[in-house]
Amino acid sequence: MENKLKSLRNLIERELQEIKDSGKLEELKNKYLGRKGELNQILKGLKDLAESERPRLGQLANEVKEELAVLFAKSEKVWSSKGQAEDLDPSLPGIKNEVGTLHPSTLVQYEIESAFSQMGFAVYDGPQLESDYYNFTALNIPADHPARDTQDTFWLEGNNLLRTHTSNLQVRMLQKYGAPFRGIFPGRVSRYESTDASHDHTFFQLEGLMVDKDITIGNLIATMKALLSAVFKREVDVRLRPGFFPFVEPGFEMDIKCLVCEGKGCSVCKQSGWVELMPCGMVHPKVLEAGNIDSKIYSGFAFGLGLTRMVMMKYRIDDIRLLESGDLRFLKQF
Ligand code: DAH
Repeated sequence: MENKLKSLRNLIERELQEIKDSGKLEELKNKYLGRKGELNQILKGLKDLAESERPRLGQLANEVKEELAVLFAKSEKVWSSKGQAEDLDPSLPGIKNEVGTLHPSTLVQYEIESAFSQMGFAVYDGPQLESDYYNFTALNIPADHPARDTQDTFWLEGNNLLRTHTSNLQVRMLQKYGAPFRGIFPGRVSRYESTDASHDHTFFQLEGLMVDKDITIGNLIATMKALLSAVFKREVDVRLRPGFFPFVEPGFEMDIKCLVCEGKGCSVCKQSGWVELMPCGMVHPKVLEAGNIDSKIYSGFAFGLGLTRMVMMKYRIDDIRLLESGDLRFLKQF
């Protein structure tokens, strides 16, 4: 019996290797493993064996049965994938796959992220639904400060709001990571305002924050210049004006010459020829302290780039509302 089992196994192994189509596989399976198949015929002989032989040969029979099941399963797998290959007709024309494109804001964001990564800045994300504290109070804008009037937004329950700027992350990041710190925070912000060609209730900013020992305005300006040349890949005219923001001291406005009209005046630059692109300044000591940083040891700069404006400048888009419109005719151009 032992011999019969072993030669059956060898025979099946050989025959499986020689089959040429999946029908033959089915035939072999019936012939050997079916209810009336050869394996069962041999196993029937078990009961006629001597009592002492039965356990050993019973075990062998089981092993051979399992081995054969595995062999057949393998062949079935091979033949089923061959079947699929036969169904594929490579001469048929291909099916066109619709591939989306990145949003222009995403394209510019990635460009800026890569420029800043090379300068040792990490990219952080944070809440768009924010508390009054991180959006205003921690940034030296107390409840009665008039600066709040310029940034009205959508208020939610419990003194929470949709953040009006990415500056909400300044104190959060300092509290979490301490100094020295180098990071940028791109993201969506909201304002409660009527829309026109250059205003929308939803737009994107990109905040930058660097805090370390001996940081000066020189570091700020050099970093801003590196950023602009990374995005525009050409020289752009800029001007620096004093600007007031409660969370920086001193504060500046960096403007660039309008690239839509080349400075002649258009709806994007409100006929002035210049576009406010990058408010910035040296981090106010009160903000550092709110972030648990000793302002006598550390200093830093911050900037709040209007990412959406930057995108409009770069691609010469003359209406901000196109960006959030979801209009595929617009989006497919990028
Ligand atoms: N958060 C300000 C805004 O949205 C912009 C800003 C100004 C950010 C000066 C800064 C900064 O980091 O230093 O109007």
